[in-house]
Amino acid sequence: MGWLSLRSRLHGPTSFEHTPSHGTSSKSAIEHAEHVEDVFAQPPEPQYPHQKISIPDDDLPFIPPAIVRNQRSHLQTQGLAWIVVDNIVYDCTTFINDHPGGDTVIRSFIGEDCSWQFWRFHSKMIMEKWGRPLRVGRTEGIVNRFKEPPRYFGSRSR
Ligand code: HEM
Repeated sequence: MGWLSLRSRLHGPTSFEHTPSHGTSSKSAIEHAEHVEDVFAQPPEPQYPHQKISIPDDDLPFIPPAIVRNQRSHLQTQGLAWIVVDNIVYDCTTFINDHPGGDTVIRSFIGEDCSWQFWRFHSKMIMEKWGRPLRVGRTEGIVNRFKEPPRYFGSRSR
């Protein structure tokens, strides 16, 4: 009720608030003001924000693989949905809920490489339009948990 107490000092008490009749403490007013400031504080700038689409892949900031993999171990607490496609790190933290293929597929690859799986479902055009704005950096040495199965193309000659 910090905001309520502050309001009462600015505009007078509300009918349902108990206000001591003597000695309004300036200390408590400051405490409430600090609390209000906290509520409206901006979230801290992420260490690796989304990069401008004009930046070439090679000029993206390098993110050490340990930090990328770490997103997996902090999955429950921190919740940064980073995935890797062709050594580029994509932050899907907000996009994951809007992903047309559902959140589960992205969630299952957090902190991991999913290059071949990605290219099975998306064209280059989709990557340019939807993936590029999600880039936060480049990395190396993140391996895919699964071996890519061979692609079989039919060859009907008759
Ligand atoms: C950078 C991350 C990703 C982006 C920006 C992205 C974007 C998209 C978009 C725009 C579509 C709709 C495509 C369409 O309508 O033609 C889509 C569909 C889909 N995505 Fe993703 N995606 C990402 C990651 C992934 C990953 C990691 C997987 C799984 C390995 C995945 C699996 C799928 C599937 C299964 C569909 C539905 C395909 C269909 O209905 O034919 N996506 N994605």
